[in-house]
Amino acid sequence: MPLEASSLLSACFEDFGYAKSGYTNLTGIDYSPSAIQLSEKVREKERMSDIKLKVEDFLAPSDELSGFEICIDKGTFDAISLNPDNALGKRKQYVRSLCSVLKPEGFFLITSCNWTKEELLNEFREGFEILEELPTPKFCFGGRIGNSVTALVFQRKKVRPSILDKLD
Ligand SMILES: C[S@@+](CC[C@H](N)C(=O)[O-])C[C@H]1O[C@@H](n2cnc3c(N)ncnc32)[C@H](O)[C@@H]1O
Repeated sequence: MPLEASSLLSACFEDFGYAKSGYTNLTGIDYSPSAIQLSEKVREKERMSDIKLKVEDFLAPSDELSGFEICIDKGTFDAISLNPDNALGKRKQYVRSLCSVLKPEGFFLITSCNWTKEELLNEFREGFEILEELPTPKFCFGGRIGNSVTALVFQRKKVRPSILDKLD
């Protein structure tokens, strides 16, 4: 991806590595004002004043949050999935929000500690196709090898907006 691709970091306070890799058009969001305040301190310390930071609920994104070429999530989908209040509905809303913030054929990078590759493929099957699984640390337990973290790259399918209704 070109380094000027518009990229959205959901829940961003420890994710400044993307800016360090040269990406210049970054927007970081979190629904917690204190997480954004912390991100502002990191931004100042790292001298990365170009990064835009906003308090936004990813499950109810404002109109300004649209047209991104890349959306990067490390831990937000996990946090949303653990919500004891209607977790299934919130996961579906997450997919709808993702479709609305990303351009058609935009990329979605997710890192999860809670979900396996197969589970994530199922969660995002309606609007997304997998491009790549990124390497993560492996462990062996009871003779079987597994990953403690799953990291996948998806691409938003070029679909009609009716896909959003189908997710209800
Ligand atoms: C596990 S932390 C991950 C933070 C960061 N990405 C990292 O790797 O350190 C999850 C974050 O998701 C944020 N979060 C949870 N639900 C959210 C929502 N609906 N909209 C925006 N941020 C949310 C929380 O405030 C928290 O900062």
